[in-house]
Amino acid sequence: MKILVTGGAGFIGGNYALTMVKRYPEEEYVVLDALTYAGNLETLESIMNEPNFKFIKGDIRDRAFIYDLFEKEKFDVVINFAAESHVDRSIEEPDIFVSTNVMGVQVLLDACRKYNVSRFHQVSTDEVYGDLPLDRPDLLFTEETPLHTSSPYSASKASADLLTLAYYRTFQLPVTISRCSNNYGPYHFPEKLIPLMISRALANESLPVYGEGANVRDWLYVTDHCNAIDLIVKKGKVGEVYNIGGHNEKTNLEVVKTILKELDKPESLIHFVKDRPGHDLRYAMDPTKIQNELGWEPEYTFDTGIKKTIEWYLNNKDWWEHIINGEYKDYYAKMYKERP
Ligand code: NAD
Ligand code: TYD
Repeated sequence: MKILVTGGAGFIGGNYALTMVKRYPEEEYVVLDALTYAGNLETLESIMNEPNFKFIKGDIRDRAFIYDLFEKEKFDVVINFAAESHVDRSIEEPDIFVSTNVMGVQVLLDACRKYNVSRFHQVSTDEVYGDLPLDRPDLLFTEETPLHTSSPYSASKASADLLTLAYYRTFQLPVTISRCSNNYGPYHFPEKLIPLMISRALANESLPVYGEGANVRDWLYVTDHCNAIDLIVKKGKVGEVYNIGGHNEKTNLEVVKTILKELDKPESLIHFVKDRPGHDLRYAMDPTKIQNELGWEPEYTFDTGIKKTIEWYLNNKDWWEHIINGEYKDYYAKMYKERP
């Protein structure tokens, strides 16, 4: 079986490739990635020379290139992780989100049709459901919750989901979709909450918490997400959507305080800053369907996962210091100067 992993030099796709290349030596994995600011070949270093692994640089929006690649490689399965993934960037610059997350997916769907790929899996997000109120902890997102997006990022991801389902209904393309809650773990780009707070706390820099830090996210350790996708691709029902989450709801302030405690740093580093426009209040997933139908269970709780993550950041400073010492400095200065 030959599997194309698009966006595999990013956070989740990278963890997917690292895990599956070693777990399934009999399967061939090809990572395709445009190496945007979020893609990093250092993530894939430990599998670069494995006989069942190959990296190709390329853009999912480049139709001629994609068709040529599909013609040559004859993929059985395509798993699409490639995306612009940061909500704050989507507020600054929505265009690239529509271009990559919608048009890019359409190119992949067309290529899967043309070259008879036996499964297209779209990696989506809980953010397509919008948000839940903070005072109704009984409410969770199920696969039946209507799509109701808030940011250009989530709107682009919801559009891709709808296109994917349209290709199933209209052309019988064998597709599946997974919608996962917030991930954290190794190789997470330090623009996102958890790695940003770890890297800044280690440097004794102020920690910018949006609003009052009361917004809630449902956190899942990245390899639990990868294992769920592997199950869906191999055993999931074509045409179906699966929610993924581990019931690990935390306020942002709780997350930041946990990190400070683990690193033995003072809470005085916390700095409340101007809120994100349109900021979703709460995400919370109901993963009953994937648990009952596919037997998926997460391996990590938030407590075990965050400890493992912090340990990784402490032991792999090279990986993230290369990032924060580069053009990231300009990004941070630009994005946070408006948030005094
Ligand atoms: P990421 O930003 O770390 O990685 C995205 C990767 O896609 C990068 O390597 C980038 O170079 C690549 N890419 C971007 N545009 C491309 C293009 N046009 N052609 C080819 N490659 C391109 O993102 P991530 O956090 O790993 O997220 C992966 C997927 O999972 C995304 O689709 C995201 O929407 C979804 N998701 C993320 C989370 C989360 O918490 N991070 C949760 C649920 C779902
Ligand atoms: P983020 O990691 O950007 O993921 P998402 O917006 O996709 O959930 O942010 C997680 C939460 O943390 C979100 O409520 C916004 C908040 N946040 C901060 O308070 N400060 C920050 O510097 C960042 C990046 C995020």
